[in-house]
Amino acid sequence: MATPHISAQDDAFAESILLPGDPLRARYIAEGFLEDVTEVTAVRNMLGFTGTYKGIPVSTMGTGMGIPSASIYVTELLRFYGVRRLIRVGSCGGISTDVKMRDVILAIGAGTDSLTNRTRYNGWDYAPTANFELLRAAADAASDLNIQTHVGNLHSSDLFYNTYTDSLKFWQRMGVLAVEMETAAIYSLAAEAGAQALSIVTVSDHLVTEEQTSSEERERTFDQMARIALEAIHKLEQ
Ligand code: HPA
Repeated sequence: MATPHISAQDDAFAESILLPGDPLRARYIAEGFLEDVTEVTAVRNMLGFTGTYKGIPVSTMGTGMGIPSASIYVTELLRFYGVRRLIRVGSCGGISTDVKMRDVILAIGAGTDSLTNRTRYNGWDYAPTANFELLRAAADAASDLNIQTHVGNLHSSDLFYNTYTDSLKFWQRMGVLAVEMETAAIYSLAAEAGAQALSIVTVSDHLVTEEQTSSEERERTFDQMARIALEAIHKLEQ
């Protein structure tokens, strides 16, 4: 069966999926971390793969950037392809001075300036939060792997280029660790479907210090997130 944005067999996806924004990162995860990999979809070059990690079926697929794009893919994965555990692995811009470049954040929750939840949920607010069991498994996995993590809140913004500079101060005051562009939607859609979700993000640039990482550094830190995500799945499936 094909959906409007995914062309795959009904059973093509595993219950657990790693979701980078960039589809080439999905290929990188599949080739570097999974075994017995098959490419399962390539509509609009939004590549998806399924393989195994330590014998457990795992998929990976790009979401694109931003809540509208991620919402399309996540909705179809949840509604039509039986995905039950979603782990975003991506980058973020540091907001808090407590987080440094290349630090890894496990997102307990995500606020947003997007109106998509209010549109979907009758004008009401929903508190998008990670699944606790999955968050705990990821925190344990990170500590087994000797990778330090922060656990805190993100801000999921519709704007990468936000010229309203006071927003940074506001989010700092609220203790928000970093900004990215997808988590509030992924957490909400997963909750609505009774599925588990978690975002693991690495600080790739910092809004306070204005530092940026090179693409090589991003690759290295990306490996850490993939390992945490896969080991968390392994813990839950053992
Ligand atoms: N803003 C939004 N999303 C991001 C950023 C940012 O500065 N860095 C990485 N993802």
